[in-house]
Amino acid sequence: MSTSNKTTFSSTLGVIMAAVGSAVGLGNIWRFPYICGKYGGGAFLIVYLCFVFLLGATLMMSEFVIGRRSQHTPIKAFQALHPKKAWGLLGLLGLITSFFILSQYLVLSGWTTDYIWESISGNLAALGSDAGAISNYFAQFSTNALRPVIAVVIFSVICLVVIMCGVQKGIENVSKVLMPLLVLLVLVLCVRSLTLPNAGKGLEYLFLPDFSKLTGEGVLAALGQALFSLSVGMGVMIVYGSYMPVNDNVFKTAMWITACDTLIAILAGVAIFPAVFSCGFDPAGGPGLVFCVLPNVFNNMGGAGIVFSTIFFLLLAVAAMTSAISLLESLTATLLEHAKVNRQVSAVLFFLLSSAFGILFSLSIGPLSNVTIGHAHLTMFDFVDKLNSIYLPPICSLFTIFFFGWVMPEADIKDELSNHGVLKIGYYKVFRFLARYVAPLALLVVLITGIMG
Ligand code: PHE
Repeated sequence: MSTSNKTTFSSTLGVIMAAVGSAVGLGNIWRFPYICGKYGGGAFLIVYLCFVFLLGATLMMSEFVIGRRSQHTPIKAFQALHPKKAWGLLGLLGLITSFFILSQYLVLSGWTTDYIWESISGNLAALGSDAGAISNYFAQFSTNALRPVIAVVIFSVICLVVIMCGVQKGIENVSKVLMPLLVLLVLVLCVRSLTLPNAGKGLEYLFLPDFSKLTGEGVLAALGQALFSLSVGMGVMIVYGSYMPVNDNVFKTAMWITACDTLIAILAGVAIFPAVFSCGFDPAGGPGLVFCVLPNVFNNMGGAGIVFSTIFFLLLAVAAMTSAISLLESLTATLLEHAKVNRQVSAVLFFLLSSAFGILFSLSIGPLSNVTIGHAHLTMFDFVDKLNSIYLPPICSLFTIFFFGWVMPEADIKDELSNHGVLKIGYYKVFRFLARYVAPLALLVVLITGIMG
């Protein structure tokens, strides 16, 4: 195999921190807890755990193998592993997906960044427990022409600086600091939340199995969330796989990453719902939960509320940052491999492009909301949201797992998983079955129901 791409993380710990950094993001903190509660708490959790460990981890291992075996970024990786060069198009599709996810992610990350300031400055606290005023504040902020745009720029510049510092000095070192910080922040919030009166109600909502709420829609949401949360299906893990040291155990590393990602999602739920229920609020979903319900919860905590709300928005921004970094790195590294440019130029280029689109999507919520797409008259933000949730990731994941299960030579896979015969791979038969049959079928169902629904 070619070894043109020699950059690696320094150790297994480095790989795990960086990949957990990619995996743990807004999806864990503001999406998982909400859908878990909505679709039956413990009942949803059981299904989610099956999906994330059986299918999500399978996809992650496949991407790691493709990346480390080929030592290339997605387009060349697929081309290096199969003589038909057209497979490179799959890498390209993954990069386009990464680009759109990044651009949309920057908008939401910008909001969380701005809210760190809104919290520290006391602006949020000043709204007291007037739910209407808090929602209005958010509506005015998110539709403003300038403030969210500035936030997008600030957030993306920080990501850019990290990428420009390189894989070990930038991504790995930053992840090694930010991930433990994130765990600390979420634990502080958990302790606060659990010690509030009536915290048990929130735990019940989150964990008590209610199978009547676990609808077909809930099962599909669990699968979609498992893939999104592990950052698989668009080649980011192919790039990180190409940085994996040769003696790293792909199976163990993927299991660690999956376990950490899942644990942090659950902890996020423990940090949020007991507090929400303790204040007697309804658990809303998405931005409503984070920017309208939670500020009210913090304002109900008295003086220390400012501290906890700042910790919360900092937690969100940290989680979002390492995820955005992985997306920007995937794009940067690919251009680096295909064109005669250096890392700095490549990173700046994608920074400019993704923040330009991010700004456009942000404006489409406010001043440009009259610019719509298609018969459904979707705003640009809603359009890209649909693209990023229903179409692009399942399509890429489906083709990637198909390539891995049916096209890539099996001998290469076994050789890579066993580190050239050094490691025992007793799990292989089960893994192969999941990769060839279960994962493609499940993804096909997600895709079809997504498109039809
Ligand atoms: N896994 C991230 C989250 O949970 C999102 C993400 C998806 C990051 C794909 C990178 C690639 O928020």
